[in-house]
Amino acid sequence: MDSILVKGNGALSGTIPIAGAKNACLTLMPATLLSEEPLTLTNAPRLSDIATMTQLLRSLGAEVASLQDGLVLAMSSHNIANHTADYDIVRKMRASILVLGPMLARDGHAVVSLPGGCAIGARPVDLHLQAFEAMGADLDLRDGYVHAKAPGGRLRGAVVDFPFVSVGATENALMAATLAKGTTVLKNAAREPEIVDLARCLRKMGAQIEGEGTSTLTIQGVDRLNGATHPVVTDRIELGTYMLVPAICGGEVECLGGTLELVGAFVEKLDAAGVSVTQTERGLKVSRKNGRVRAVDVVTEPFPGFPTDLQAQMMALLCTAEGTSVLEERIFENRFMHAPELTRMGAKIEVHGGTAKVTGVPRLKGARVMATDLRASVSLILAALAAEGETVVSRVYHLDRGYERLEEKLRACGAQIERIRT
Ligand code: EPZ
Repeated sequence: MDSILVKGNGALSGTIPIAGAKNACLTLMPATLLSEEPLTLTNAPRLSDIATMTQLLRSLGAEVASLQDGLVLAMSSHNIANHTADYDIVRKMRASILVLGPMLARDGHAVVSLPGGCAIGARPVDLHLQAFEAMGADLDLRDGYVHAKAPGGRLRGAVVDFPFVSVGATENALMAATLAKGTTVLKNAAREPEIVDLARCLRKMGAQIEGEGTSTLTIQGVDRLNGATHPVVTDRIELGTYMLVPAICGGEVECLGGTLELVGAFVEKLDAAGVSVTQTERGLKVSRKNGRVRAVDVVTEPFPGFPTDLQAQMMALLCTAEGTSVLEERIFENRFMHAPELTRMGAKIEVHGGTAKVTGVPRLKGARVMATDLRASVSLILAALAAEGETVVSRVYHLDRGYERLEEKLRACGAQIERIRT
């Protein structure tokens, strides 16, 4: 397993290109199963999760060609040869559950392994299943698989009122509803930019959707969808992650492709902490207003609130802030695993259930630390960039799931960072 060696090197400055959004691409790709026509995605990120979704779609009989060094994904599924998403692939990546809605909507049946939990939580899929049942599907859970059937081969439109916001359940139900007979209304739907991007792509394919970006989506089912070409929206989590580089190290970084609308609540917190963010023609320019940042409190919420996927990274910044910050994680039940690792670097963090109290220290110290999940691993990289001395982050395969060419992008800003193959 690879490790990454980082030597704290003071202020970092330069430009960082932001890639297409992993979490948009992982729901746009299964949309190819909804149509017999080709679906081509551009601005696709080059990540191991994308490779896993490619492997899954190919196992179902879809054609997926990765072109232009992975930036373009040319996909087509004239017919779905295999309707079973196997555990061996699904267990590697939970987003695999997003092939269930499209297969069920397209052919009236599907068998998908339950994804199981992951490091940050149990992550059930009951809301996904609730939506499909409301749309008439018969679901049989056995042997760790969901066996789904639509009576008469077609789902029917329904009103689905989600008890709480779920990004994946909204995406799965939205895709399924495009081919259902009649009208579907999704209430308490997720409002993330990745949902908006999916709706825009589905509309290009001929879907009839209203309300994306709000809590209520209305979908008029159609008999079939066409092909389309669609650019993957910029990755707001990669964007927010790299915006924290000058915030924690000093210096000035311009994140190419970044827009304020993608990171509104996050920018408000950075501003309060003493970090300035300016929209330029090319992206977002970020630097500290004056020296050490100030402590701020953070509560993670569904979009447009503060994103849970930036909580670990923000904690790294607040470990070096002046004062005490309180971070409340309201989305996942176990998303503070970066805290003990940051503590090894000299951070002062007290975790009580879903709340972490961080008392800032002037400077962290390099240490050997271990990545536990995707966003925890990048929070350790951020801490290491600002720390005194050397840090070795192990198990960086977590990183490769969500950050393409991370070392290269950081070295371009002056970071001393290299991958150690072990
Ligand atoms: C998506 O996961 C993202 N993943 C996550 O990003 C992100 O953290 C999350 O949304 C929240 O924004 C992808 O898009 C591939 P949820 P998802 O359904 O859809 C519970 C990253 O780092 N829940 O909104 O799985 C669930 O356990 C990843 O890029 C149920 O109880 O998230 C969680 O506590 C991590 N039943 C909460 O709801 C369900 O049926 C929100 O989950 C579904 C979810």
